Amino acid sequence: MRLLIVGNGGRASALALKLSEDSKITKMFFAPGNATTEKLGENINETDILALRDFAIKNKVDLTIVGPEAPLVEGIVDEFKKVDLKVFGPTKKAASLEGSKSFSKKFMQTYGIKTAKAVIFDSYVEAKEYLQTQEFPIVIKASGLAGGKGVVIAEDLEEAEGTIHDFMIKRIFGDAGIQVVIEEFLQGFEASIIGVSNGEKIFPFVSAKDYKKAGNGDKGPNTGGMGSVAPSPEFTDAHNQDFIQNIMNPTVEGLKKEGLNFKGFIFFGLMITKNGTYLLEYNMRLGDPETQVLLPLLENNLVDVIEDCLNGKELDLKFKDKKAVCLVVCSGGYPKNHETGYEITGVEKVKNSKVLYAGADYRGSRVVSTGGRVLNIVALGDTYDEARKKVYEDAVPVQFDYAFYRDDIAKF
Ligand code: AMP
Ligand code: GLY
Repeated sequence: MRLLIVGNGGRASALALKLSEDSKITKMFFAPGNATTEKLGENINETDILALRDFAIKNKVDLTIVGPEAPLVEGIVDEFKKVDLKVFGPTKKAASLEGSKSFSKKFMQTYGIKTAKAVIFDSYVEAKEYLQTQEFPIVIKASGLAGGKGVVIAEDLEEAEGTIHDFMIKRIFGDAGIQVVIEEFLQGFEASIIGVSNGEKIFPFVSAKDYKKAGNGDKGPNTGGMGSVAPSPEFTDAHNQDFIQNIMNPTVEGLKKEGLNFKGFIFFGLMITKNGTYLLEYNMRLGDPETQVLLPLLENNLVDVIEDCLNGKELDLKFKDKKAVCLVVCSGGYPKNHETGYEITGVEKVKNSKVLYAGADYRGSRVVSTGGRVLNIVALGDTYDEARKKVYEDAVPVQFDYAFYRDDIAKF
């Protein structure tokens, strides 16, 4: 079996590692991949969706898995399906549940999904008028994809007005900010649930927790994720029941009624407040860095899971009774300006964890940093402490100039 995996971060490495255990896979292509995927497969340079389609035809790819949101929202699944290529992921229409926050909020409101109260605006003047009547903090979201930067929690009217001005008038995110969603601020803690859909039903994985802020104690700016754990120790059975009843089941019903049924991954970004579990967003794909802790816990063969979904079969997902911890090691300065191109050394000294490269590539025989989130260190343990100890011990020998990471991942 020949696979094509679209993506390049730590999530692509986690997929590569999980799939490398599968003897029926004879070849894995990664577009564009990183240093881990180059070791386990072959990296290719294509990123354009039609070029990827042509590559898949020419190279007799049996199955394509898409990691990031951009190609999904652009319609990669539709293009692959037109030429009968097997691909796991949402159609362009279903991907707009991630690509358009106004579309997804309307969907949540229509199907009674538990979510923050919100109003959608196309008009700057109306949005500005509305803000005068609101309490703060308030959450302002650019409707379209803005590389994870399109959500602002405005502390007062001045910041809120500045934000809608940036989004709708200055258009700092281009067309993504033409429409905005203004919603109630929810206080609580976040949890991530990833599931797979077979077109009829969603089968959820165990929960995960993503550490989004750059600094210890959740201080500093938002990032693409500084670490993760699974299962999330904060997310109880009661929260899960709330999620299934008030979020997952009505989502399944809405997908059917809207004709958005798809076969692929779906990610629920949740906020747990004193009034229960709320849906903040859908991502129509695997999360990063959640995937890095979920796949090592998943006992099922991943290609079997995907093929069963594609064939509309029922799934019986099984997870190891362990805790998984992922520490993200970053370039100094991330998520703001940072330098790359530094050699990474000491990986061979890692004993009890797996190193997954994210923003790192081979230059000859050396591996050098190429991005903000450079590599992930992942370990399993019977307890969070055991897994945590392994990743922090193994982080010590792994070095590159100006590397940094949070000290409090999985510290409960
Ligand atoms: P989203 O892309 O919609 O999940 O928003 C990105 C991040 O903004 C979330 O992970 C939360 O940390 C925060 N956020 C989004 N919506 C809300 C809300 N209604 N209340 C509080 N925080 C929010
Ligand atoms: N961890 C959230 C995401 O993948 O967007």
